[in-house]
Amino acid sequence: MSYKSINNHSMRQTAFVGREREIQQLSALAEEAVQGRGETIFIAGKAGMGKTRLVQEFADSLDAQGFKVLRGLCLPDNYVPLLPIKEALRSGGLYHISTGGNPRAYSSYTS
Ligand SMILES: Nc1ncnc2c1ncn2[C@@H]1O[C@H](COP(=O)(O)OP(=O)(O)O)[C@@H](O)[C@H]1O
Ligand SMILES: [Mg+2]
Repeated sequence: MSYKSINNHSMRQTAFVGREREIQQLSALAEEAVQGRGETIFIAGKAGMGKTRLVQEFADSLDAQGFKVLRGLCLPDNYVPLLPIKEALRSGGLYHISTGGNPRAYSSYTS
């Protein structure tokens, strides 16, 4: 798998630079996921150091490679339970599995 930066926001953002090591690490984990060994990845760091941009660039590159990328976002002033997860499901046309209560969501997901 090769990393190719696809910047959907080029009219608003500067060119993406650096982060070769992080992109390489994420690409290796994506390869593992393709083999059925998914991971949860936490990206932590100070405000403004590039967490969102790194994830955005990498998710765009996965999109371009044909991965199904689901995107959800936490908002600081939002109190809707599980909003980022619901949003992620909606972004992938999978919102129906989150409705009707947890047991149904669980059985839809596992069936
Ligand atoms: N690798 C990078 N190359 C170019 N610009 C970057 C890079 N990383 C971050 N930026 C820019 O710096 C600013 C802050 O980055 P952001 O991802 O929002 O930080 P964080 O999410 O860690 O608070 C944004 O304008 C973003 O586009
Ligand atoms: Mg951010």
